[in-house]
Amino acid sequence: MEVINRIRGVLVIYLTIMTTLVIVQESSNVNVVEARYHYHKKQKNKASPSAPSPSPDYPPPPSVVPSDPASPSPPTPTTSPPVLSDPYPNDPSNPSSGCTFDVMSFGAVGDGSTDDTAAFREAWKAACAVESAVVLAPADYCFKITSTIFSGPCRPGLIFQVDGVLMTPDGPEEWPKTDSRKQWLVFYRLDNMSFTGVGTIEGNGDKWWDLPCKPHRGPDGSTVSGPCDSPALIRFFMSSNLVVSGLTIKNSPQFHMKFDGCEGVLIDKVSISSPKLSPNTDGIHIEATKTVGIYNSLIANGDDCISIGPGCSDVDIEGVTCGPSHGISIGSLGVHNSQACVSNITVRNVIIKESDNGLRIKTWQGGTGSVTGILFENIQMENVRNCIIVDQYYCLSKGCLNQTSAVYVNDVEYRTIKGTYDVRNTPIHFACSDTVACTNIIMSDVELLPYEGELVEDPFCWNAYGTQETLIIPPINCLQEGEPQTVMESNKFACS
Ligand SMILES: *[C@@H]1O[C@H](CO)[C@@H](O)[C@H](O)[C@H]1NC(C)=O
Ligand SMILES: *[C@@H]1O[C@H](CO)[C@@H](O)[C@H](O)[C@H]1NC(C)=O
Ligand SMILES: *[C@@H]1O[C@H](CO)[C@@H](O)[C@H](O)[C@H]1NC(C)=O
Repeated sequence: MEVINRIRGVLVIYLTIMTTLVIVQESSNVNVVEARYHYHKKQKNKASPSAPSPSPDYPPPPSVVPSDPASPSPPTPTTSPPVLSDPYPNDPSNPSSGCTFDVMSFGAVGDGSTDDTAAFREAWKAACAVESAVVLAPADYCFKITSTIFSGPCRPGLIFQVDGVLMTPDGPEEWPKTDSRKQWLVFYRLDNMSFTGVGTIEGNGDKWWDLPCKPHRGPDGSTVSGPCDSPALIRFFMSSNLVVSGLTIKNSPQFHMKFDGCEGVLIDKVSISSPKLSPNTDGIHIEATKTVGIYNSLIANGDDCISIGPGCSDVDIEGVTCGPSHGISIGSLGVHNSQACVSNITVRNVIIKESDNGLRIKTWQGGTGSVTGILFENIQMENVRNCIIVDQYYCLSKGCLNQTSAVYVNDVEYRTIKGTYDVRNTPIHFACSDTVACTNIIMSDVELLPYEGELVEDPFCWNAYGTQETLIIPPINCLQEGEPQTVMESNKFACS
């Protein structure tokens, strides 16, 4: 535990340094990242005892390929993963540290139609073996590659730099039959790696969004059942100490960026965009991921701006503009009676506009665990439906039965939340579990006004307890003072 705390401490310091660097340095993000790596380059890696080295070769054994993106916890590799030791112990005969591996020197064409996958794989393989190496996809070229797993372990300080355009095959027809349809770029088992550049990651999502299985894409606006997998654009899996910065990420067939089983993630100055009606195109999704900073980014898409799944803690979001989108969402949690633990989430200085939700916590009926230590502060809303919402009756089919267990929602603060809402719903809605009340909801300086028209519904609360530190607009009379009468068995909500 002490070790974990120490690591956490280091990460916090690291994130602080990164943020400071970014603020201080006005020049391009690339320089920021380079500055940091040059700084770190002086440090020697510890050569680890000669444990068998996992091969960075392609492709990794299929048994360890990340699987079902819908699974609530990170899939466990079925073969026991090799010990994560330095596969390239420091070797004085390896003076090439800091080299750039331009994909053009590995045979990439970059004309937007040639398949450049092999060149990227070769460049990655070479760079992976060198400390602080750069895989470069240069400006003024458009590279098309198929679904690829860029796996480690690699020497530390690896930078994947896209200054040109990196794009997917064009829709399901062009997607190779044997490739995963769940993900496109995967970064796997990496530590101390950056994905950066001034370029664009293009997802060519429109043909995926139009599949008849997608909501309202069938004949007459219906939905036709059938295989519906669409690839997440960028996935980081079982990796640590990651930086994603500077990039423009567009038109993902599904989630734009997804992190699962990661620790130590810094996302800074990215721009994510896809159309308002593109289905399932979450901007940034994290699950089973700890110590995350998301800063200074613009996200406009057709689903959640940022979604935080089970197993996340220590997440700091600041300086983000969302919209159009479905807002910032914690959940959904507790599906199929699972345990869900989410804690220490801070969302500050954020703008949410033209969105279907603002700040949302959603849990299914059933489940255990808790959502606790959540702070939303200084949030500007513009024409947002459901600005503040806790929904513990989340259900996709309408056929969900009420259950007695629930993910416990506790310690949620809403401070200085201002702006306008869409009058189709009340801007404040706390629908807590019948059996497990929400507790310690704190509201202070919340002032929400109709964008146009008049409010018809009053704020809604069900089994919600908390405190109003100031007068709230619209007035909320339904939040109950103090603590619920019934004593809740606390062990059910315990999260380690
Ligand atoms: C990156 O690697 C260096 C050298 O191994 C290490 O000292 C440093 O802590 C790592 N950075 C992060 C953010 O973990
Ligand atoms: C959350 O923050 C509290 C207070 O800072 C700390 O004691 C606790 O360990 C944190 N929990 C996690 C899971 O990071
Ligand atoms: C579940 O409980 C809520 C709150 O008591 C109630 O409004 C709703 O009708 C119930 N749903 C079902 C399916 O019983």
